[in-house]
Amino acid sequence: MTMEKTFSILKPDATRRNLTGAINALIEKSGLKIIAQKRIHMSKAQAETFYGVHSERAFFNDLVEFMISGPVVVQVLEGENAVVAYRDIMGATNPENAEVGTIRKEFAESIEANSVHGSDSLENATIEMAYFFSGTELVG
Ligand code: RTP
Ligand code: MG
Repeated sequence: MTMEKTFSILKPDATRRNLTGAINALIEKSGLKIIAQKRIHMSKAQAETFYGVHSERAFFNDLVEFMISGPVVVQVLEGENAVVAYRDIMGATNPENAEVGTIRKEFAESIEANSVHGSDSLENATIEMAYFFSGTELVG
């Protein structure tokens, strides 16, 4: 077991439905600690850069438009094996395939409006959190 940090976003469908507290309750219940958090409205350029890995995918433009359709909450989570632990409680990308009790099963509206983002590797977690937070904003 190793202590890790991972990067999370509560997506616009979550802020629109006032679900940020309900989702944070599931995060905290899992044992992960929210060590940084802020509500922002991403610019188009920020969203395009953040999801740049998907720029060739058919859903890219829709995804960017969705991510800038309202405010989001960006977060850094800390805990044991945080990257995999958070992916586990997020559930599958498509909520229809997500396990009962996961955030996406409980709250996601669709494969796109699926309430949360979580880093898919430790390397990406480090890159993604540095994109939105400075080191002094992480308070463990
Ligand atoms: P995320 O990066 O947001 O944590 O989600 P993920 O790893 O589970 O899924 P990924 O394949 O990285 O896709 C990123 C986000 O793009 C949207 N998406 N739409 N319309 C579609 O077929 C489709 N597929 C993916 C979702 O918002 C997904 O979370
Ligand atoms: Mg992903």
